[in-house]
Amino acid sequence: QSFFKPIHGASPPPTTTRNTKISVIGVGNVGMAIAQTILTQHLADEIALVDVNADKLRGEMLDLQHAAAFLPRTTISSSVDYSNTRGSDLVMVTAGARQIPGESRLNLLQRNLALFSKIIPPLSAGSPDAILLIVSNPVDVLTYVAWKLSGLPANRVIGSGTNLDSSRFRFLIADHLDVNAQDVQAYIMGEHGDSSVALWSSISVGGVPILSFLERQQIAYEKQTLENIHKEVIQGAYEVIGLKGYTSWAIGYSVANLARTILRDQHRVHPVSVLATGFYGIDGGDVFLSLPTQLGRHGVLGVTNLHLSDEESQQLQKSAMTILEVQSQLGI
Ligand code: NAI
Ligand code: LAC
Repeated sequence: QSFFKPIHGASPPPTTTRNTKISVIGVGNVGMAIAQTILTQHLADEIALVDVNADKLRGEMLDLQHAAAFLPRTTISSSVDYSNTRGSDLVMVTAGARQIPGESRLNLLQRNLALFSKIIPPLSAGSPDAILLIVSNPVDVLTYVAWKLSGLPANRVIGSGTNLDSSRFRFLIADHLDVNAQDVQAYIMGEHGDSSVALWSSISVGGVPILSFLERQQIAYEKQTLENIHKEVIQGAYEVIGLKGYTSWAIGYSVANLARTILRDQHRVHPVSVLATGFYGIDGGDVFLSLPTQLGRHGVLGVTNLHLSDEESQQLQKSAMTILEVQSQLGI
């Protein structure tokens, strides 16, 4: 007997309702930052949490459930069993080892590769129509591994890539120019890591290309300043990890931003890690790298065809070679 009495002549409730289900694999710093942002932004009807650490998993689920009075109604479930992810629309993978101060993302590969070989097959088996969004590092190589192990089409296997780096880039440029970061369009491409590529030619502020913006504002065209900003982006994660031990809030908002574009079929362009082979002169093997990509409800809709300077094109191909070299030793 429901708490509420149906009105006279009401039709019976539908037997099936269209639910949006997001699964978050790994309830560590990153997984929980993502989960709480998805909840706050009401991006799903159901969030399924998975982790190997049963106590932490249950504790995180209960702690989120206890906030229900302040959040849009969302079912939150948790299980150490991957079957709990069955029927997901979007599966976000944040499980795995993270860098300790001084470690690069690529140093994590062997540990997280072993983990992926165990967790990716049951995820795609339980949700064959889902989009896989990989966050664990090294994210570009692990997105390639997830694509190979999942059997899903490449348009539905995406890495968070340089969506985060580009956000750092936009913040630093906005801070330098005293404008709102949301009015700064700027892309970092390539590896989410030390070989990322800043696309100077694509940066605009309030719709004005930055190079002419700097000239018009009589801010001396400071190539060195702009290059220092890119160096700060590359150093950004290392600095935060050195200070607080990990990064979480920016990646949480960054991944929720991608989830919104995908689940709400927004057709927006994001710099995310996709199968880049064949674009911008990238060849020599299947490689996932961040390119400006249009995303919608079925994943990758297409990759934009930006004009790159010769220097940018060479740096992007160098970034691709870095990843391909690492991949060549995987035997996958
Ligand atoms: P964390 O150590 O806080 O959490 C990792 C979680 O994975 C733990 O709760 C652990 O129990 C869980 N886990 C381990 N094996 C598992 C398995 N077999 N199944 C399910 N869960 C399992 O680490 P944190 O800080 O959350 O980072 C997670 C990953 O995300 C790291 O690889 C880190 O480098 C990466 N990361 C990626 C970013 C990006 O921009 N792509 C940004 C920030 C972090
Ligand atoms: C970052 C690292 C951890 O925050 O991937 O960019």
